[in-house]
Amino acid sequence: MLLIKKIIVAGLVVLASTATYAEGDKPYSIEGDNISQNAIDGWKTYNGGGCGACHGRGGKGAVGPNLGESVTTKLTKEQFIDIVTHGKSGTMMRPHDKNKRVMDNLDNLYAYLVARGDGVLGEENLIKFKFGKQ
Ligand code: HEC
Repeated sequence: MLLIKKIIVAGLVVLASTATYAEGDKPYSIEGDNISQNAIDGWKTYNGGGCGACHGRGGKGAVGPNLGESVTTKLTKEQFIDIVTHGKSGTMMRPHDKNKRVMDNLDNLYAYLVARGDGVLGEENLIKFKFGKQ
């Protein structure tokens, strides 16, 4: 009986930590030919915050994992914010809690990376290419 309870609890934890969105419940939106400003601000923060040095262009993965994939397949928004803020001890992922630009733009960073994971945005410069896919 205890074992069954443990299995059920483990199952619930897995469900709870799977980031899924109903359509229309995305952290970014598409307005006409444009992605919402929060995703563009997230892209700027991603670059200005130096994330690309380890996570690659557009978060596609390098020394650190592919972040578009992380936020659409395994991390909740809360987990994302927690890792970016506090880092992952014992890894190259450092805390960013002293980085005001990153801390002020956590929601925007998240919106940008979900759009990347959804394949709505490419890895390109969003100023030159609206949807980064040209
Ligand atoms: C010095 C290199 C480095 C920099 C700079 C860096 N990261 Fe990381 N990051 C890593 C590594 C390496 C990991 C994997 C840690 C591990 O082993 O679990 C990671 C993990 C993560 C994770 C967890 C991913 C997952 O799938 O579990 C997130 C989210 C993340 N980083 C976001 C960011 C953001 C956002 C920035 C910029 C503000 C950033 N990182 C800057 C190296 C870096």
